[in-house]
Formats: sequence, C-alpha cells, structure tokens
Amino acid sequence: MVGGIGRECSLAYAAEGARGVVMADLNYEAALDTAHESEKLAINPKYKALALPIDVSDPASVAKMVAAAVETFGRIDYSVNSAGVGVQKPAPADEADLDEMNRFWKVNVMGTLNCIQAVSKVMKRQEVKTITNRGRMREVGRGVILNLGSCSSFMATPHIVQYTTSKHALMGMTKNAALDLAQYGIRVNAICPSWVDTPMVDAAIEGNPDLPKLMKTIIPMSRIAKPEEIADVVLFMTSPRSSYVTGFPANDLRHARRFITSHNGKGEGIFIGDDDGAHHRVMVNGNAVANIIYSTKSNPVDMNDEKDIAYAKNTEPGIHVADGSVARLIDFAPGVESPFHRAMSIDYGIVVEGTFELSLDSGEKKIMFPGDMSVNRGTMHKWRNCDQHRSGRMLFILLDVTPLKIGEKLIEQDLGDLAGEYADIENP
Ligand SMILES: NC(=O)c1ccc[n+]([C@@H]2O[C@H](COP(=O)([O-])OP(=O)(O)OC[C@H]3O[C@@H](n4cnc5c(N)ncnc54)[C@H](O)[C@@H]3O)[C@@H](O)[C@H]2O)c1
Repeated sequence: MVGGIGRECSLAYAAEGARGVVMADLNYEAALDTAHESEKLAINPKYKALALPIDVSDPASVAKMVAAAVETFGRIDYSVNSAGVGVQKPAPADEADLDEMNRFWKVNVMGTLNCIQAVSKVMKRQEVKTITNRGRMREVGRGVILNLGSCSSFMATPHIVQYTTSKHALMGMTKNAALDLAQYGIRVNAICPSWVDTPMVDAAIEGNPDLPKLMKTIIPMSRIAKPEEIADVVLFMTSPRSSYVTGFPANDLRHARRFITSHNGKGEGIFIGDDDGAHHRVMVNGNAVANIIYSTKSNPVDMNDEKDIAYAKNTEPGIHVADGSVARLIDFAPGVESPFHRAMSIDYGIVVEGTFELSLDSGEKKIMFPGDMSVNRGTMHKWRNCDQHRSGRMLFILLDVTPLKIGEKLIEQDLGDLAGEYADIENP
C-alpha cells in the first residue's frame, strides 16, 4: 500500500536490494508513481516493481493481488499491511458516525484480515528460508506479516473512537494471527507509531490546527516521526534479523527458552533440548498463554530410554497429571485476571516477572512480587496481573495429591470458567 508509510517502505526495500516489490493501493496512480520511483533507487539488478490496484476490504481484490505477486515473483517473503483510512468525522463516542465506524471496520480491520488470510495461504506452502549469520546457519521461517498498528492500539484520543477501535482490534488480530501461524514459520507483528508525517496526518492537522502544538508537548522527542524512520523499523521487523520476534498476548515479555539435559554414552551430561516449550495454549479470551515446560506421568519418574522425554513431548497435560507432575509457565497480558479455579494438586507458584494478586474464595488476598512463591494446597483461587500496562509471568509446578477431605466433605477439582480451556484435553 503506498500512502506515506507504504510508499517509504517500498522505496526502502528497493534501496536495500529487494528482488521485487508489489505496491498495491486503492489509488493506482500513487502505486504506479511509487513503482517508478522505486526503480530509480533499486540496487538489485533483477529488481522488478509491480503496481496493482486493490481494495483491501474486498477479499476477491486481495486474492487477485496475491495471485499476481506469486505469478511474478514465485513467493511472498514479507507483507506490510499499511492500507488505512483517516478520521473524516471526529465526534465523541456517543455521537460517533455509524457509517464512518463501518468504513474503519471494513478497511482497517477486515482489510488487514483479508490480507493476512490471502498472504498466509501462500506463505504456508513456501519453503522455509535459511540464512547464515556469523558462520552459523539458522531457519528464518516461511514469511513475515507486519501490520500497521498505532499508539491508538493502546490508548484513546478524544473524538476518534472509530480509529481507536479499529487499531485496538488490529492488535488483537495480530496477536492471534501470530499465535496461530507461528507453527508454520510465519511471523506476524504490528508496529505502533505515534504521529508520522504523511498525508493522513496532514488531513488530521487540517481538521485540528492545534495538533502540531500538542505533538511538540507530548512526544518525548518533541517532533513528528519521518516516514523513513518508520520504514527502517519495518525493514528490521520483516528481515531475518528479527527472526525470533512474533506477536504474543504478552508481547512485552521475552520468549522463555527451555533447556533439557540428558547423558552421552559415557554418562556425562549433555543438552538435548533448546527451544521455547512443547505445548502452548491461549487462555482467558486470548489474554494469557500457558507454556508447558515439562510434564511427567509418574512420580518417581522413569527416565530410562528417555521415556519421560517422549511423554512430555507427545502429551499435552490437563491442569495437572494424575500420579505425575506439570511445570507450566503462564504469561498474563496487562491487568488480566484468571477465573476462580481449583486443581486437586499441590501448586508451587513462583512470580517470574510482574506483580500478581492471589485471591482465595474466603476473600483473603496476597500481593506477590518477582521471586515470591505460593504453596497452594488445593484451594479455590484466582490470579490477577496487577499491572495495567505490563505483562506478567508465573511459573507453576503441580504435583498430584491423594483425595482431600475437609470434615466429611470431599474437596474436588473445580476449574470454573477455565474448564472450557481444557475441554479438548483427555483427563483435564
Ligand atoms: N501517519 C501516522 O501518523 C500514522 C501513525 C500510526 C499508524 N499509522 C497507520 O499506518 C498506516 C499507513 O498510514 P499512512 O500515514 O501512510 O496513511 P496514508 O493515508 O498516507 O496512506 C494510506 C493508504 O491506504 C490506501 N487505502 C485506503 N483505503 C484503502 C483500501 N480500501 N484498499 C487499499 N488501499 C487503501 C490509501 O489510498 C493510502 O494510499 C495506516 O494503517 C495508519 O493508520 C499512521
């Protein structure tokens, strides 16, 4: 897409040696113009620029663009989804123009989804690319999708509910697509600039002449971003240099790595695993991710012939394993609270990052900081990430217990609203 940001990205790809760039926009003239401009800057002798008309809100139009790209170049390595519309009718939310709301939904939200769907279909069929970096080879996946979010993906600005809503939705879509497509080696991310000097902002300034003064006051660098500064971030986010970056419900936390040891023939310790966990599960309406670090089906654990490793790899456990154990890392998005639930197990809970509140069904509560630990002995409880702006991470180790009675009453597992999250697992 070739508005201010899309145009600058196209030129940057050409200048950095891309083999080809497709510039597709509702404004075909602008696409053609950018294509010609990019040819002047291209350094790859085989460079080809393809300008196409497209309406991202129409899936058929998007499919046509993708088919043309594949026919010309054979594959799609990066897709930068920057088509978007600006606010024409600012108004408080209670008076928001419904046609305008619809326009934002169709272009900014559905338009992006149409592009993700059409492009990922192609990327899924592509070979995984590899690069050699400082003498070491690594896989960098099948393709990268980058969406244009905005600081409006996180905050509200008066009178632009249509923009704020569409950019919040875009972040949810990015997180979900990142999670769903990671298994195919397709990375999905969003970048979220504040104001960038493009025609979209020119139009905003026309409607609000005080905007430049406001920018000076509230932007830490006291100036608007140049489109080329955004293009540099786009280049990084789509290049192999960011091969381990993909969206996540808790995307401000680093990916935790898991190292598994075993023995060589002499009985010495060796590392046999270096990854980010075997089973991931999105929970709490897409606001938390559980990452199973390990699970065992018995206690003591039979480690002969690496039986335990095969079990952990092949079995996604329920909330806990009868006679066994589970180590589960959970990342909570900002402010997220789990439902009340009880696993019939001893749960060691360790705060890894952030601040959490542990509440019991009696009403008692405790605040926990990094390094604090809870030993939860089968109580009905819930967790809340106390930070409204940052994600938090907890590690839970769950060991099985014998039946527990309080007086005459047998205390049983009760997953509450979490039950649905484990419904597809045997023996949840
Ligand atoms: N400029 C900023 O300050 C800023 C800040 C943060 C995020 N963004 C986002 O970056 C993206 C690009 O913004 P920009 O500043 O380059 O805007 P822009 O107005 O310069 O470019 C947007 C482009 O999208 C095209 N477009 C609109 N509807 C389309 C449709 N249905 N199908 C295909 N193309 C369509 C327009 O023709 C235009 O060329 C947008 O998603 C915007 O919300 C912009």
